[in-house]
Amino acid sequence: MAATQQNASIDREHWTGRIGFILAAAGSAIGLGNIWRFPYSVSEGGGGLFVIIYLFFVLGIGLPVLLAELSLGRQSQRNPVGAFKALIPGKFWPYVGGLGVLTGTAILAFYSVIAGWTVGYLGKSLSGTLAEATDGESSGAVFSSFVADPLWPVLLSGIFLAITLLVVRGGVAKGIERATKFLMPALLILLIALAIQALTLPGGIDGIIYLFTPDWSKLSLNVVMGALGQALFSLSLGMGAMITYGSYASKRENLWKSGTYIAIADTGIALLAGLIIFPTLFFAGAEPNAGPGLVFVVLPTIFNQMPFGSFFAIAFFSLLTIAALTSTVSLLEVAVAYFVDEKGWRRNKAATAISGFCFALAVPSALAFGAVPQLSGGEQSILPFNLDFLTLNNNIWGNYSLSIGAIFICIGVAWFWGVPKFLASLEDGEDRTFPMPGREVVGFLVKIICPLCVLIVFIFIIVTGNYF
Ligand code: PFF
Repeated sequence: MAATQQNASIDREHWTGRIGFILAAAGSAIGLGNIWRFPYSVSEGGGGLFVIIYLFFVLGIGLPVLLAELSLGRQSQRNPVGAFKALIPGKFWPYVGGLGVLTGTAILAFYSVIAGWTVGYLGKSLSGTLAEATDGESSGAVFSSFVADPLWPVLLSGIFLAITLLVVRGGVAKGIERATKFLMPALLILLIALAIQALTLPGGIDGIIYLFTPDWSKLSLNVVMGALGQALFSLSLGMGAMITYGSYASKRENLWKSGTYIAIADTGIALLAGLIIFPTLFFAGAEPNAGPGLVFVVLPTIFNQMPFGSFFAIAFFSLLTIAALTSTVSLLEVAVAYFVDEKGWRRNKAATAISGFCFALAVPSALAFGAVPQLSGGEQSILPFNLDFLTLNNNIWGNYSLSIGAIFICIGVAWFWGVPKFLASLEDGEDRTFPMPGREVVGFLVKIICPLCVLIVFIFIIVTGNYF
């Protein structure tokens, strides 16, 4: 096995360096989850209270699970299925990787629909049609008629998948790394510019107070569980994306250090998104309770009241598109790595076939907001719980499947591969300058606390039906 593993390592393409690796992994983590989902989860979870609990989970659960995935990938130099095969004996474990491959493909199918809406809104801000969204009502009408169209949402998700395919076909260094090296700094610059603009708005300070002052009277199990789910989804954990990206990391990297940077970048961007959205909301005197429509319904009305609003609308939807693209690339790469490593397919063939399959799966999600009433939720829905097709998939794959994946990854790493091997592999790199405070604490978190907490979330989701 050692020889096979060594060959895999020699043949395998790698990131060209640490910056490329960190940017690509941070690009996977930073996505619609940070800029679209985090702000509305904050507003549903009582502002600062949610933020504090979320930060606690990122540190206590997100970071340890991230380190577990990265070390599984780097040690094995394999896709999620191959990683389990190589490191943990037993027929069961490759299925955990297989679930990850399946989950990534299914998440990509609905994620690309929302990413397509983002491109649509970018088009609207460029063409000036977003100017029709002058207040909550007109903006809601623009949004509903856009998502109910039978053609555009389908077309746009197809376009988004095609761009994702182009990047992934380019391979690890020439495709993914080159794209993220350009896209991530662009995203950061745009976000900082928007945050400065938002912070100077009259009344903006109330938004900051809302974001950072916990209202303990809002504390509930719902808020706690929502924050834990957000920490997992946002860091791209539970489906092997970080196993796959870790597998392209060289033995030189100090994973402890890289993992910490990735978690800081992901959390920092989510907070930065909060610093844009909440001051802007309070400036407009709107209530922070707009739900999933927050970005698409509330922000356009605010952009239309702001000086240079159309410029900022274009900037905002561009950065949301960029953030979504670096995440869809990682979602596609998980399945591509599987078919290339395990089935011997060429990268081109794997990427084209999987993205084509995802497009077919994306169509019903894209039609689930009015175009096909049977798929659109409510009374006419033919789907379980009267949900729309996209929300149903979001719940199954984004909640259930990621939670199951995270539990098994922790158990596999800590109980079967072993905590000593896991910790040693984290520090394998040549660069040992980074202090590893409390390495035993990380072992304990991965072995006991993380699987237990995620199990509680999972049970909680099933028992209460408390989706996102
Ligand atoms: N972390 C991404 C986001 O916050 O938008 C979503 C995601 C990407 C989840 C890749 C899971 C994954 F494997």
